[in-house]
Amino acid sequence: MDLKKIISEHETKLKDALKSVDKIEALQDVKAQFVGKKAELSKLMRHMKDLPNEEKPAFGQTINEAKQYFSSLIETRKTEILEERLRQKLAQERIDVTLPAPDFSPGSPHLLRTVIETVEDLFIGMGYLVKEGPEVESDELNFEKLNLPKDHPARDMQDSFYITDDTLLRTHTSPVQVRTMLAYGGKEPVKIICPGKVYRRDDDDATHSHQFMQIEGLVVDTDTSLADLKGTLLAVAQKMFGKDRRIVLRPSYFPFTEPSFEVDVTCSNCDGAGCNMCKQTGYIEILGAGMVHNNVLEAAGYDSTKYQGFAFGIGVERIAMLKYGIDDIRHFYVNDLRFNKQFKGGQS
Ligand code: DAH
Repeated sequence: MDLKKIISEHETKLKDALKSVDKIEALQDVKAQFVGKKAELSKLMRHMKDLPNEEKPAFGQTINEAKQYFSSLIETRKTEILEERLRQKLAQERIDVTLPAPDFSPGSPHLLRTVIETVEDLFIGMGYLVKEGPEVESDELNFEKLNLPKDHPARDMQDSFYITDDTLLRTHTSPVQVRTMLAYGGKEPVKIICPGKVYRRDDDDATHSHQFMQIEGLVVDTDTSLADLKGTLLAVAQKMFGKDRRIVLRPSYFPFTEPSFEVDVTCSNCDGAGCNMCKQTGYIEILGAGMVHNNVLEAAGYDSTKYQGFAFGIGVERIAMLKYGIDDIRHFYVNDLRFNKQFKGGQS
């Protein structure tokens, strides 16, 4: 028997078979056929017993080497098939970088948030702390300790949503003043702003909403004057409406301040000359303010012979409407993206 010849014939057959195989599954069959237990090559081993002893080792070794060689041919083909499969997959899944990108339209802060953050930045820069309080508030803190005892006629200025006889949705952010002063125990100076939501029983229309936002400000110290208040409010007006703005304080009434003022800013549209935006007055009202009433200081534990304070309340929607020319307060709350997107967080 010419073993080498037989092996070489098998090799030729194997190579032909490998050429026509292009699937891993089919390759398994080829493997079984050429190097498996039932392969022709394996069957040749049976002839070993008929050989003289001295020829047996060489015979066995030749067959084994042939099997190893066949196995390596099969492995090589397997690698080729896998690589080809990967190539095809990559070709199918190729990313076309020239396709237009999907529109992710990044979000942006709500305009009211931007106004609040702008005011916060200004006051933090002047050494104020930002304080918050609960939206469900006691009558005592929302009214009584702010010099508005039960049955005080000025309560009518703030129609309220009562939850129980003594609890309500806060009508302004002023109770956070009281909370902070009480927490400070009547001893330390106070310098805070308090942004947050407030609620009133108003019918919603273009300029009223049953829920809106305020930023309260409070400074209490031993040498606080009306001049400090005026300088502070001028800084707010200029930050929000431009550095050329001027302000006037108009006498007004709030139970928690004495004296009290409404603060007007020169119209940013006509610079005070008079136009439609300011109804020909040259001025636009932007907030309420005053020197903290002695009764409020005393109710919160501060000695009114030593301490004085000033306070102010900014309507966030009002500032935003004036600054960005918005004609209906309801635009802020309906979350119509066409509205929200116009402002991109105030950077229109
Ligand atoms: N709390 C007042 C309101 O909601 C606004 C206000 C006015 C707050 C004068 C103040 C202030 O702190 O001094 O109408």
